[in-house]
Parts: sequence; structure tokens; C-alpha cells
Amino acid sequence: MSSERLRAKAEEIASRAGREADSCASAQELDALRVRYLGRKGELTALLREVGTLAPEARRAAGDALNRVKEELAARLTVAASALAEERAAPGPGRDLTLPGRRPPVGRVHPLTQTTLELLDVFRHLGFAVHEGPEVELEYYNFEALNTPAWHPSRDEQDSFYLAPGVVLRTHTSPVQIRVMERQPPPVRMVAPGRCYRRDNPDATHAVMFHQIEGLYVDRGVTFGDLRGTLEEFARETFGTATRARFRPSYFPFTEPSAEMDILCVGCRGEGCRMCGHAGWLEVMGCGMVHPAVLRAVRYDPEEVSGFAFGLGIDRVTMLRYRIDDIRLLTENDILFLDQF
Ligand code: DAH
Repeated sequence: MSSERLRAKAEEIASRAGREADSCASAQELDALRVRYLGRKGELTALLREVGTLAPEARRAAGDALNRVKEELAARLTVAASALAEERAAPGPGRDLTLPGRRPPVGRVHPLTQTTLELLDVFRHLGFAVHEGPEVELEYYNFEALNTPAWHPSRDEQDSFYLAPGVVLRTHTSPVQIRVMERQPPPVRMVAPGRCYRRDNPDATHAVMFHQIEGLYVDRGVTFGDLRGTLEEFARETFGTATRARFRPSYFPFTEPSAEMDILCVGCRGEGCRMCGHAGWLEVMGCGMVHPAVLRAVRYDPEEVSGFAFGLGIDRVTMLRYRIDDIRLLTENDILFLDQF
């Protein structure tokens, strides 16, 4: 075929395709048309291939011309498709304009974040400043400075994620205590929210990643009475004025004495139910008087100052507030679940 013949033929095919496009009634028909003319085995595509058989001097001009025809047809098909779409959206017979519109999905604050913000607010009102620390933490801050010696089970590779020698995904928010005290002299009154990691086997109450709020108050003459007063006030603010708190002796390397704080079960008010395992009480946090070794690690003088510290699980508090019975639900990103809060 001569190059003139090729061009004429291409224009003829394109104008036929254009006319057919105008009479297409659906997007599917238009798609089929596009394939028939412009697809890999389409009529116009076949013609373009013939450009290669022309004399070398003629190829370039013919190729350009045919490509232009092809692009014009493609544009015409696109216009036809959007005209079809517009027509479908326009009011007309069979369209009920009184139907409500489609609501675009709107996101919301994740329940864990809601809880975190509310808890921080309670502590802010009690005079605590908010600090944050790194999730990738030095073993020194996560363990040593917190009086947690190498023989302690949490230092085992089976229990913590080590990223490099001396570097660990923090197993609790307690290292933020050390980082803040290192930076400033007493008094210190701070809370620190954040993610923590442990090599637990996931089940309804254990997750590899979870959230804590750490608290610390160090000053002259801070006593266990201050700890009780502060944390009981926190419990009332968070769980309502009918809440009662109790303290049970416990053990943490970085506090002495140490305690667990329980609150009266929010499900049964002490009667005993499934939520509290029929104990009537729910454990909400660990706490205690800061160990002198911890104060010495940050060059505070334990003869001069004393303090209390606490660590509470945000996931647990969230589960209690909303009666969620499986911690995994919180991180599955299931919109139907999250939409409830
Ligand atoms: N870090 C502890 C844990 O993850 C919780 C804790 C207990 C923090 C007592 C404290 C504390 O600050 O005084 O189990």
C-alpha cells in the first residue's frame, strides 16, 4: 500500500469508528468498540503496522499521520464515554431524586487514641507534663537504669525483641522516666504514653504490640500516701466517682515497695462476674515508690528526694471502658468494628 492510501484508509476507519461510538448505548459497548479499532488486534492498529513496509523515507511522515488519527479517535471515544456517564447521572425517567445521597465515609479517632487522650487529660489536670520517648530503645534505658539486672526474665531473647546488641524494642514505657530525669533536676512530674513490644503469644489478652502510660513524680518528701491520693483520684476521674481502688503488694525491680492497683469491677461493682473472673476487682496498673538505685542512676540523691511511679495498660483500660473482649480487635483495622466507637 502506498503511504497516501494508508492515510486515507486510516481516516476512513477512524470516522466510521467515531460514528459507531456516537450510537453506543453503554460503557461496555464503547469498550468493545475501542478493542475492535484500537486494541492489539484492532483495525487501526493493523494499519499502523503496515507503515513498516513503506520505503524508509516515507515511514516517518506516514507514522506521524497515522498516530495522530489514532490519538484523535482515542480522544473521541473518551469523550463519548464521559457523555454516556453524564447522561446516566442526569435526572430523567426512573430516577428518584428524593432518595438520600450517598454519604462519603468519614473516619474517626481510634478507640485507643480516644482513651489515651482522655487519660492524658486526667493526668494533666493533676499537674503531670506529657513526654514521649523512643520505641527503639537502648538496653541501658529499658533495663539497666531501671535496676533490672541481666538475670531478669524480661531480658531474655525469648521475651523481648532485640534489634542489635544493646538495642531493643522497648518492653514498657518506664525508660522514659530515666530519659526525662536525666534531662532535668527534680522536681519531675510527668506521664509518657506510647507503644511497647513483647514476644508474647497473641491471644485475647496479649498482643506483641501494646500501649502504656508511664507516670513519675519525684520531689522532696513524696510518700506512698501521695501515690494513693493521686492514683485514687485518677481512678475516680476515669471510671466514675463510685469506683474504689485497692493496692496489693507486688514486685518490680524499679520500685520498692511495689504494688498493683485494682479497681472495683466496672461490670459488677464487686459482686463478681465474668469480666473480673468473679474476683470483683480488676487490675489496672503497676506502681510503687521509685527504687533508690533508679534515682542514683540519674544522679538524683535518694537522701534528698523520693518519688512514686506507675505504668498502666491503655489497651486494657480501653477494653474495660468499651467491654471489648479481645485485644486483637483493636489492631485488625476492621472498619465495622471501629465504627462503633
Ligand atoms: N513497667 C511495668 C510493666 O510494664 C509497669 C510499671 C510498674 C511501671 C510499676 C511503673 C511502676 O512505673 O512503678 O509491667
